[in-house]
Amino acid sequence: MASHSASHRQDPVQRALGGGWGTFLAAAARSPRDVGTLLPSGPELAQRLAAVVAGTGGTGRPAVVVEVGAGGGAVTTAIVREADQDAVVIAVEKDPALADRLRSRQLGVRVVTADAATLPAILADHGVDRADVIVSVLPWSLFGPRQQREFLTIFAAALQPDGVFTAAAYSVGYWTAAARRFRSELDRTFGEVLPTRTLWRHLPPAMTYVCRRPIVTDDGITADPNR
Ligand SMILES: C[S@@+](CC[C@H](N)C(=O)[O-])C[C@H]1O[C@@H](n2cnc3c(N)ncnc32)[C@H](O)[C@@H]1O
Repeated sequence: MASHSASHRQDPVQRALGGGWGTFLAAAARSPRDVGTLLPSGPELAQRLAAVVAGTGGTGRPAVVVEVGAGGGAVTTAIVREADQDAVVIAVEKDPALADRLRSRQLGVRVVTADAATLPAILADHGVDRADVIVSVLPWSLFGPRQQREFLTIFAAALQPDGVFTAAAYSVGYWTAAARRFRSELDRTFGEVLPTRTLWRHLPPAMTYVCRRPIVTDDGITADPNR
């Protein structure tokens, strides 16, 4: 799973016609609020999300990388490129057809058909306690307030204290109430939240958040006392 050079230039038509778009579109038609888009992530966005995976090794144990909302694997391939050879990569996808499609690609990752809300049980099933990295391309701005908080609480608690969480967001919706709420939930959940620059050539234009220092107590997440 070492890093390889890859072309991240690929136009949306290629993205749409190649790589199992039919399966993706069918999933979007079945569950529009879960999938949230008609196109899988493009290679530049995938690479941006996966960049945090590089350098997670060197702890004396295999790094644990989790992708939640893996779809057909548009981001998974970038994660696999960046991950160390011995890393444990777990791709969680709720839609069975997309999960099957990802499994059939044999990328060397553990594909789990499940709701990401069950992440602690998924980690336990794979013999690990916490993840070093959690990458998410969930449709955050379609989630209600309770769902956003519930997912972030679960993910922060499932991270190593020095772990990192990344999320993609579509820039066109940046000023919507749901997107602003998501940003403030991130600020509530992590001590450090870094937005990245918008990828304007991505369809739709997108950016990512890179979040560190999960704020976790025995009771769950608390507000950072320093804010
Ligand atoms: C925007 S798509 C992203 C797919 C892929 N990662 C990509 O970048 O192209 C969101 C994916 O998250 C999945 N998803 C939504 N809610 C989920 C949940 N609670 N647990 C697991 N997967 C979920 C959807 O089925 C869909 O495949």
